[in-house]
Amino acid sequence: MDRILIRGGSRLEGEIEISGAKNAALPLMCAGLLTDEVLKLRNLPQLADIDTMAKLLQQLGVNITIEDGPMATSAQTGNFSTKAITNYTAEYELVRKMRASILVLGPLVARCGKARVSLPGGCALGTRPVDLHIKGLQQLGAEIDLQDGYIVASAPNGLKGTEIFFPVVTVTGTENLLMAACLVKGETRLVNAAREPEVTDLAECLVKMGADITGIGTGTLVIQGKDTLHGADHAIVADRIVVGTYAIAAAITNGNVELIGARAEHIQSVIAYLEQVGVEVSKTEDGLRVTRSSNTIRSVDITTEPYPGFPTDMQAQAMALMCMADGAAVINETIFENRFMHVPELCRMGANITVNGMTATVRGVPELHGAPVMATDLRASVSLVLAGLAAKGETIVSRVYHLDRGYDHVEQKLAACGASIERLKAAA
Ligand code: EPZ
Repeated sequence: MDRILIRGGSRLEGEIEISGAKNAALPLMCAGLLTDEVLKLRNLPQLADIDTMAKLLQQLGVNITIEDGPMATSAQTGNFSTKAITNYTAEYELVRKMRASILVLGPLVARCGKARVSLPGGCALGTRPVDLHIKGLQQLGAEIDLQDGYIVASAPNGLKGTEIFFPVVTVTGTENLLMAACLVKGETRLVNAAREPEVTDLAECLVKMGADITGIGTGTLVIQGKDTLHGADHAIVADRIVVGTYAIAAAITNGNVELIGARAEHIQSVIAYLEQVGVEVSKTEDGLRVTRSSNTIRSVDITTEPYPGFPTDMQAQAMALMCMADGAAVINETIFENRFMHVPELCRMGANITVNGMTATVRGVPELHGAPVMATDLRASVSLVLAGLAAKGETIVSRVYHLDRGYDHVEQKLAACGASIERLKAAA
């Protein structure tokens, strides 16, 4: 398995191109199941999860062609078309690797009236149930059994629009039911729907495909079902979590970095947090500039919430920054029950963090020191890279396959801004 070696202490200066959002690209690729015409998705990030999703969709009968961007590190363009669904099973082997595979469930049931999708099972972050996905489809009229670890869905009498209330805000739950509702007779109302920019991006693309959706960007989405959807050409929204991650890379190294393609309106909560910490974030013609010139990093408490609150996907990265802050920061993780696996690894680098249930208290230390550390999940892995950028000495992050799921060309992009970082390829 590849590892990443970082020699800390360099100040980041320069610019970083932000690619399309992983968590928008994944549902958008599944929207290709809803039409027999070509769905063109631009700004498709080069990530392991995108490759995994493409493999799954091809197994279902989706025809996919990928066009490369101008440079090796550029985003790509993907063309997705589904003349017919030739297979409606998403195997455990693929689903266990990537939970977002559950996003084929709604489109399959809506398009061909049946689906057999492996239950994703738990993951490092916790149990990660999908009960709300299943319940919503049942409310639309699908019959669902759980057989041998698979969700077996069918719609012998077709699907019919209804009102679905989410007791818990669920991003992929909203996306699954939003896609299904586009091909369901009648009106469907999704109440307490997720409002993440990736959900909005999906809704906007579905409208380009001929869907009738109102309330986009709000917590209530109203869909008038159609018989078919047509193709479209859609540019995937920039990845706000990648923006927030590189913003913290600039802050933690006392740097000055421009994030090309970043959209301030999608990370207001992170910008507000960084400004409280003492980091300057300003809009530029091409995105956002992030600089920290003051010597201190102020300790600021965090509570993760659904959008537009502080994103849980930014919690590990913010914690890395708080490790060298001037006081104690209390971090409440309210979304996932086990999203502190980066803590013991950061403590190996000299951080002073105590965890009590879903609350971590980070007491700032004057400096971190490099150490061999292990990635455990996508955002934990990047928090270790961030800490390594600021630490004294060498940090080696192992199991970087976690990192490659959500960050494309991370070592190239950071090295181009002055970081001393390289990938240690696993022996073939
Ligand atoms: C999406 O996961 C993202 N993944 C996650 O990003 C992100 O952390 C999460 O939303 C929260 O923002 C993708 O979009 C592919 P949820 P998702 O359903 O949809 C509970 C990353 O790092 N819940 O919004 O799986 C659940 O247990 C990944 O890029 C139910 O109880 O998350 C959790 O407590 C990690 N029943 C809460 O809702 C359900 O049926 C939010 O989960 C569904 C969810």
